[in-house]
Amino acid sequence: MTRQAIVAANWKMNGDSALVDNIVSGLANVKLSSHVDVVICPSFAYLSELNQKIKAAKLNEAIHVGSQNLSEHESGAFTGEISTAMLQDLAINYVIVGHSERRSIYKETSLQVAKKVNAALDAGLTPILCIGESEVERVTGETEAVLSAQIQPVIDEVGIDKFIDVVIAYEPVWAIGTGKTASSAMAQETHKFIRQFLAQQSELVSDKVPLLYGGSVNAANCEELFAQTDIDGGLIGGASLKAEQFKIICSAAKGK
Ligand code: 13P
Repeated sequence: MTRQAIVAANWKMNGDSALVDNIVSGLANVKLSSHVDVVICPSFAYLSELNQKIKAAKLNEAIHVGSQNLSEHESGAFTGEISTAMLQDLAINYVIVGHSERRSIYKETSLQVAKKVNAALDAGLTPILCIGESEVERVTGETEAVLSAQIQPVIDEVGIDKFIDVVIAYEPVWAIGTGKTASSAMAQETHKFIRQFLAQQSELVSDKVPLLYGGSVNAANCEELFAQTDIDGGLIGGASLKAEQFKIICSAAKGK
């Protein structure tokens, strides 16, 4: 079995229609290996426009659009939120869940994140579950405990069988937007821990779930990171806003 590789772009609160056009034309003749999916996650405001322009430009069918968030609630009085039904309506099939900025700035708890993953899976959306430790947690040797405590509530909520459809993005918080990438060896060691943690509960899930690395990935370091045994692609912030860089990163990914 080949495990799918994924390169996901998280535009965060950046971008506009000009960036949509720029990325769509930049990816026009991108070379992707087989078993690679590309997922571009703009702000809610551009989901539909990006999706339509990707289709109109007849880009590679492995290029998808994803949301940066979703509500764990079905519908109702939740101002500013977006539901799974709305994402389905827009033909969106991926969603980032539990990004460290959602956890730290908007105080999303691991239980809430678990409910969001469950809502996504029930709606047939692929959740990209973000996990990662802070610098202090890394220095004090708590990385593995923190990551376990972020993954386990999700497994408890959705059940290990359904977890097979989850994608995990490991993003050390200290490497996000700082230019401080984890070394490829350090990233591999942590990915290996995550894979072993999953294997304790299901070998099948552990073999199948793509593990993405995120945190200052760019065109210069992506090849070495993606070559690591347990790294199946990346979740890219800043470098995903530059079409030329992002294209190089997409082409570096390979299924394993
Ligand atoms: P940077 O690639 O800008 O460090 O951002 C990483 C990230 O948070 C992607 O979700």
